[in-house]
Amino acid sequence: MKVLGIESSCDETGVAIYESGVGVLAQALHSQISLHALYGGVVPELASRDHIRLMPGLIRQTLAGAGLRVADLDAIAYTAGPGLAGALLVGASVAEAMAFAAGIPALPVHHLEGHMLSPLLAADPPDFPFVALLVSGGHTQLMRVAGIGQYELLGETLDDAAGEAFDKTAKLLGLGYPGGAELAALAERGHAGRYKLPRPMLRSGNLDFSFSGLKTAVLNIVSNAAWQRPHAARLAADLAADFQQAVVEVLADKALAALEQTGLRALVVAGGVGANVALRAKLDSTLRQKGARAYYPEPALCTDNGVMIAYAGARRLELGERPPRVATIRVRPRWPLAELGAPLAPR
Ligand code: KG4
Ligand code: ZN
Repeated sequence: MKVLGIESSCDETGVAIYESGVGVLAQALHSQISLHALYGGVVPELASRDHIRLMPGLIRQTLAGAGLRVADLDAIAYTAGPGLAGALLVGASVAEAMAFAAGIPALPVHHLEGHMLSPLLAADPPDFPFVALLVSGGHTQLMRVAGIGQYELLGETLDDAAGEAFDKTAKLLGLGYPGGAELAALAERGHAGRYKLPRPMLRSGNLDFSFSGLKTAVLNIVSNAAWQRPHAARLAADLAADFQQAVVEVLADKALAALEQTGLRALVVAGGVGANVALRAKLDSTLRQKGARAYYPEPALCTDNGVMIAYAGARRLELGERPPRVATIRVRPRWPLAELGAPLAPR
């Protein structure tokens, strides 16, 4: 089964073709980061327009890369939510129109299901059931995953997402947008331990998170008069290291607690923050001590891409999901992952 996947939920236009049992045939990705950097965050209307501008070319490029025509595809999968409404509508309209014209099914895919299943594309994938730690710019969730579409929410952030906390803290330290990767690089040059930052909800007794207090603690430090040159550069690196350590400790502690609570030994880590090297090192060492193991997507699949959407769509179609052959352009900017069901053919 050859599935074209289209991702346009936020600031990346991603297109890919995945073939069941074979793998990724071709992919193309355009990041809008430079477009939004000027504004310090994603501007939804600009995002939508840029998706419109680039998507047709990226689709042509991907088809050519795979040596296929639209008629050779079995289905088109697209991100239907969660995400920015206008950006989602671009992918949904293109996918539904192409699929209708070609007489093949168009399959709406949940963005986080895409992220969560992407580690299954790695060389040594985990088996179901597993615990998933979803850490992206918009979400921080722990899920029990029994199979495709069988998701039980174990805990989530009560305020900022982990990626959002990285981005807001990066901004406070004068770094660009999105600042997660840049803050992580700065943290590598610093030493943790100078600043006593909180470990929010570490002892809350549940699997929920809260990161907004951490950002406020950083704000209080950088607003302080002592935060002045000539030491600012070194202090910023140390503060970045302390911030990263606090986030990593809380994420690793709760992920381990989720494994203990569910009695599972496999943790899948997905979403942009999953690319963080310190987080991976901490999870690997913590889990190893407990006889458990963490699984990650390839680095290129950590942030938004079309491959994960094509793959999630293909897995659902393989399991018998048959979307109606009526073009319905409907997106869900807010869409709880636990609402998804296992793949079902329409009655
Ligand atoms: O999954 P993703 O590409 O987009 C969403 O669906 O949100 O995640 C983007 C987030 C951003 O907040 C970005 O700063 C963060 O992932 N990020 C990182 C790193 N690379 C990306 N955060 C910490 N360390 C990194 N190395
Ligand atoms: Zn994402």
